Amino acid sequence: MKKMLMVVGILAVAFVAHVAQEMRYAQAATLTVVGFSQVGSESDWRIANTQSMRRAFSEANGFKLIIKDAQQRQDRQVAAIRDFIAQKVDFIVIAPVTEGGWDGALNEAKAAGIPVIIVDRRIAVASDDLYSNWVGSDFRREGDIAVEWMEQNLGTDKELLIVHLQGSMGSSAQIGRTDALDAGVDKNSGWKVVARDSGAFSQAKGKEVMERILRQHPRIDVLYAENDDMAIGAMAAMDEAGRTYGLNGDTVIISFDATRAGLTATLKGKIHFNMECNPLHGPRVKEIIQRLKNGERPEKYIYVDEAAFDARTFTQAELDAREY
Ligand code: AHR
Repeated sequence: MKKMLMVVGILAVAFVAHVAQEMRYAQAATLTVVGFSQVGSESDWRIANTQSMRRAFSEANGFKLIIKDAQQRQDRQVAAIRDFIAQKVDFIVIAPVTEGGWDGALNEAKAAGIPVIIVDRRIAVASDDLYSNWVGSDFRREGDIAVEWMEQNLGTDKELLIVHLQGSMGSSAQIGRTDALDAGVDKNSGWKVVARDSGAFSQAKGKEVMERILRQHPRIDVLYAENDDMAIGAMAAMDEAGRTYGLNGDTVIISFDATRAGLTATLKGKIHFNMECNPLHGPRVKEIIQRLKNGERPEKYIYVDEAAFDARTFTQAELDAREY
């Protein structure tokens, strides 16, 4: 009798495990599988962007998200797309490292019938039919707003020696913000870019590049840093070199992203002007995918709204109210 009860017990446990497994298979079969090729984790902006995607594409929301980190390399993104195609994902989402180099992989995704959504930066392809939608920032506009602030607050004819820290070369964030500054320099007779180099959107590289520039340039009127991480790295280099900046210093700092760390520096008067670049794309991409699944045709290009912050008027309450 005891033996029989033991056998029944074992069978019952096995049955429950089997049912649970079947339920997991059934749930997995109903999840929408999204392959996301992310640039890397070079900045606070990028980390906030990845978190936003993870939150939006959770299993509780009906998704299985496969993220591949390209570590800043476009060739890794192409390999990721091929892998997503082999895995027969339902949708491919790409945050592109660079604008160029996408035609081959996107033609393969198209042949496999997998819709592609581009997020954050733009891509340059022979035909826009290679992707279904794009959502992100107008980087040129961000730069134009920063340049306009410089014109209004620093003048146009007076000599202004500018150091320019660029983001990852070939990315549309870098191209747009650089083009805006170049247009300002062409237009305003007093403006001179005395040093320009890429800090690859990272704090460590921004500091390293700035250390070298500081040794060569005893006077810097403006630092135009294409993101907060590089601005923060450059400030550390200036601190070590005994150079002053911010509302009470010699160098005016212009920065982009408006991350929590960047805006904290703005609140303290260290960064004069901070132009937001909004990373919270997860819910936007999710909505696009849901609409595509419903057979709708969401707007092809969606630009996000972004705000500008001036250290002279920015408040703690505004910082507290921010989502990231
Ligand atoms: O493409 C957006 C840019 O990429 C952000 O400005 C930068 O911080 C990030 O790494």
